[in-house]
Amino acid sequence: MGWAYGTAIVTDQGDQDRANGPLVHALREKSATVAIVGMGYVGVPLTCAFVEAGIKTIGLDTDKSRVADLQAGRPYIGHLDDTVFQRLAASAGFEATTRPQALGDADVVVICVPTPLDEDHVPDLSPIARAAADVAEHGRPRQLVVLESTTYPGTTRDVLIPALTSEFFIAYSPERIDPGGTADFVSTPKLVAGLDDQSVELAVALYESVFADVRLVKDIETAEAAKLLENTFRAVNIALVNELKVAFTSLGIDIWDVIDAAASKPFGFMSFYPGPGVGGHCIPIDPEYLAWKTRSSTSPLAITEAAIRINEDMPGYVLLRLTDVLDSRNRLLEDSTILIVGVSYKPGVGDIRSSPALVLIDELASGGAGVAYHDPLVAALDTGSGQLHSIPWEPATLARFDAAIICTDHDTIDYSLLAAGGLPIVDTRNAMARRGFMNSDNITKA
Ligand SMILES: NC(=O)c1ccc[n+]([C@@H]2O[C@H](COP(=O)([O-])OP(=O)(O)OC[C@H]3O[C@@H](n4cnc5c(N)ncnc54)[C@H](O)[C@@H]3O)[C@@H](O)[C@H]2O)c1
Repeated sequence: MGWAYGTAIVTDQGDQDRANGPLVHALREKSATVAIVGMGYVGVPLTCAFVEAGIKTIGLDTDKSRVADLQAGRPYIGHLDDTVFQRLAASAGFEATTRPQALGDADVVVICVPTPLDEDHVPDLSPIARAAADVAEHGRPRQLVVLESTTYPGTTRDVLIPALTSEFFIAYSPERIDPGGTADFVSTPKLVAGLDDQSVELAVALYESVFADVRLVKDIETAEAAKLLENTFRAVNIALVNELKVAFTSLGIDIWDVIDAAASKPFGFMSFYPGPGVGGHCIPIDPEYLAWKTRSSTSPLAITEAAIRINEDMPGYVLLRLTDVLDSRNRLLEDSTILIVGVSYKPGVGDIRSSPALVLIDELASGGAGVAYHDPLVAALDTGSGQLHSIPWEPATLARFDAAIICTDHDTIDYSLLAAGGLPIVDTRNAMARRGFMNSDNITKA
């Protein structure tokens, strides 16, 4: 049996040339060198896990400033402890570089580059294609190459493998990190699939050196699809509670009370919570990857496509609720100054990618309102109308505003100041009620 990829055909004779025994041994002995391509929210924690396990690790990134920060031990990912970067910089087992030639020094290459959408909401695989081209040019035969980026089923086989003209071992292992969340990264089961038995053996040996629970998936496409199922499941359920929030509000029912009540059922129900929309590099993007893939190959995904639209519509709904609040106080949006509380896409992280707060800020500004924000994890923000800086969280500053919208409820914010100020609050996260501030005259859930 043989597998064709790129110009190389792996035959039974080829299998002998591709003996994986030495690398399996090196991985088990932790004497292999791992290169991580893409030192972002995924790449940095993964690098830490390998370095802390005593595995020599090279961090490759095209972003010169990130590499300079890594070399100097300067943090650039808000929710990670500063000492993470200091420990990496001080470690003899870690090297950060922008030089793709360094891939030639590695036994394993793990690709953790972004998988964004282009302006037409089409998957942009150029970071993966570029990483694959770098491996093809600078890597070496009998390297294990693992793709960890989230992408549609078929990417590894159609984009990564054809770029590799030598005999590489190939695997896919979706990343499941939850930045700022409570789940322990290395205890979360790690899915792994390989192109052939040798690749599987290597990938399992690689991940077993740091992950407690490595689960084999039968093929690469299943592993790619599993990751998209996980995040599409989340996007669809968030859309469901967002849709119900709008419907229940018009019926005079509080969705948060409904979810609390339903959550008492010990089986068959899982709580998801509404909000001002979805953000980050996963939930707004991954369902689009899946929808795009199936749109072009099989049938449209009606539920997924509807969920994407519903979540995208949420900032508009929040603006309507704000306008109602201002109306009831005889104020016009264009004469008002609005404070956005929390601009990152979720609590505890400083990641603003695709955050619905950015949409709200732009919409408010284009509607003629003054707008400012407070976020303990985001010091400055580029918006459509220029750069903003997080305002101080103090009574005199809060008193300048006509209303506040709570977009993200960071635990480190002192909500009692907001409650005491008497400012009308549009609360998209139930942040005030959860903390016992129940003044319904000032607080509107949205
Ligand atoms: N952020 C998350 O919570 C999360 C969770 C699970 C999976 N993922 C997936 O992991 C992948 C990476 O996401 P992220 O959040 O870490 O992205 P990120 O933007 O934080 O980091 C990616 C890094 O890759 C670098 N890069 C881009 N192209 C490169 C190339 N060709 N060579 C070298 N470096 C390159 C960028 O400069 C950046 O530093 C995505 O596919 C994402 O969907 C992300």
